[in-house]
Amino acid sequence: MLLEVRDLTKVYDTGFVKVSALKGISFKVKEGELTAIMGPSGSGKTTLMDILGCLSRPTGGLYLFQGEEANRLSERKLAEIRNSHLGFVFQSFNLLPRETVLSNIELPLIYKGVPRGERRKKGIEILFSLGLKDKLNSFPNQLSGGEQQRVAIGRALINNPHLILADEPTGNIDRKTGEGILKIFVDLNQKGKTIIIITHDPFVASYCSRIIHLEDGKVVKDELC
Ligand SMILES: Nc1ncnc2c1ncn2[C@@H]1O[C@H](COP(=O)(O)OP(=O)(O)OP(=O)(O)O)[C@@H](O)[C@H]1O
Ligand SMILES: [Mg+2]
Repeated sequence: MLLEVRDLTKVYDTGFVKVSALKGISFKVKEGELTAIMGPSGSGKTTLMDILGCLSRPTGGLYLFQGEEANRLSERKLAEIRNSHLGFVFQSFNLLPRETVLSNIELPLIYKGVPRGERRKKGIEILFSLGLKDKLNSFPNQLSGGEQQRVAIGRALINNPHLILADEPTGNIDRKTGEGILKIFVDLNQKGKTIIIITHDPFVASYCSRIIHLEDGKVVKDELC
């Protein structure tokens, strides 16, 4: 099992009101799955992704990543899991505007202390595989939305992560370009990557082999397709 959540809860305490965003979520994800987490706006998708991505901690319940209880780990250890085992893709790409495509993609390797020559080689290899070989020295604002998202996918892949977490990866691009992005995820999954895509869009979920449906902080359906 790659990960498991058991009776996970998350309460946001804003000082005035308490928002119960997750109300007891349980499921397991095996290595090699391509899973969609689907649900309407406000159902708790991003909250769940932040916990799965070790970016925030649950209020209650259990999160096991590779058998380790993530809630009990130190901040340092959580950061280590993020850097070594996880790749993130966001709706808004989150690229550094003043850095070239190649520098953006190398970033996770800089954090890991990988030497420059090796970083370049790895970065160029990945950009070639994503069809971006002419864009190595471009800046993010010189790229289309689909190209920017491909760079972000490259950045998520460069550490060879065990799990890719994508939150509305096609949310800011048109349908046709979005299909290209989804095909990249399918292709990566066929090569063995475990991927979780968070979406409210049934078209995006239709590319996945499993759909976990969230409503109001709870799993209402978990189906294989
Ligand atoms: N930092 C926060 N502080 C307080 N409440 C929050 C916070 N983040 C999210 N919430 C609340 O938690 C609930 C779940 O939010 P979440 O962002 O996880 O939903 P979502 O399914 O990702 O929605 P969307 O599809 O709009 O992105 C919502 O009611 C939201 O208002
Ligand atoms: Mg969200």
